[in-house]
Amino acid sequence: MAFALFSLSGILICAVAYALIDFILPYVRPSKLHRYLHVKDGKPAWALVTGASDGIGKALSFELASQGFNVVLHGRNPAKLERVQRELETAHPNRSFRILIADATQCAQAPDTFKDIAHRLSDIHLTVLINNAGGTPILTEKLFKGVDEYTHKEIADTIALNATFPTMLWSTLVPSLSQNAPALILVVGSLASNGLPLVAPYGSSKSYLRTLSESLAQEMIIAGRDIEVLHVGLGTVTGVSGIWTPPSLFVPHATTMAKAIMGRVGCERVDVVPYWPHAVQIMGTVLLPGWMKGMIFRKVMVDLQKKGLNPGDEKKRE
Ligand SMILES: NC(=O)c1ccc[n+]([C@@H]2O[C@H](COP(=O)([O-])OP(=O)(O)OC[C@H]3O[C@@H](n4cnc5c(N)ncnc54)[C@H](OP(=O)(O)O)[C@@H]3O)[C@@H](O)[C@H]2O)c1
Repeated sequence: MAFALFSLSGILICAVAYALIDFILPYVRPSKLHRYLHVKDGKPAWALVTGASDGIGKALSFELASQGFNVVLHGRNPAKLERVQRELETAHPNRSFRILIADATQCAQAPDTFKDIAHRLSDIHLTVLINNAGGTPILTEKLFKGVDEYTHKEIADTIALNATFPTMLWSTLVPSLSQNAPALILVVGSLASNGLPLVAPYGSSKSYLRTLSESLAQEMIIAGRDIEVLHVGLGTVTGVSGIWTPPSLFVPHATTMAKAIMGRVGCERVDVVPYWPHAVQIMGTVLLPGWMKGMIFRKVMVDLQKKGLNPGDEKKRE
């Protein structure tokens, strides 16, 4: 009996130690972003960042430029992108930047858009693709609402922006990334994909993106393509178009998040929570029983709904 108890506690201690090491490892491994900073036929490495005109995408573009990459800034608003391009050129005069306009909610209906994107990028040595553009395109006043309160256009646009556009962009660019290997596809996801209520179309689209990343990562191995696929799940980040509260430990600024994301490249996971305090938060909910997790998710989201963040708030900040 004593031996059985001793063995059991030994197994338990090993399992906890393993889980702890497994949790910590991605945050202590050095970033391997430099793997993708290579020259081909005299052409320097470029990164494409979708949704680079604001928030995390803008911060990622600055981070990539500071690490030696030239950056293609994708978005739908030329004036905003030109402003970001000027800021980048001032901060990083030795790098090159170019703009790529494509509205993610329109692209699925206009298949030539992707041919055009491939053509416009065909002269550069693209080694990094960052799928960052995302969010909830909101037409009505409320951002947090039940699925029956969404217009059909809001649902279609949310899925197009967060799921359809990245899938079609990947299918367009994987061949050239493969030729330019080693290459990186980084996908910005959300912890809302864990089944948060009141953002169902957004959370589910992000969940799709996580599954897509897992599938693509396996496909790259089957095809013998040296392309790292990394999905990063984000909690709340400030300094973005909809949130500009002062940063805190659990709500970091977009620049802090951009560094954390780049820090996780090469961490030997397909899916990681890049910012460790968010990982601690989500770990807490994983350990809870389902009913308690549901209770916490409902409370958090209903409180956010009561605070009433809406599209008008973004305009006030401009
Ligand atoms: N901030 C957070 O708390 C948080 C949490 C979890 C996950 N995320 C994810 O992080 C990513 C970046 O979000 P963010 O917080 O940085 O938001 P943001 O400040 O609103 O930036 C979103 C970017 O995507 C672009 N975009 C939006 N709709 C587009 C469209 N239809 N076509 C082309 N580009 C479009 C925006 O362009 P415009 O400037 O023209 O609007 C902007 O550049 C998203 O994928 C989001 O889901 C954010």
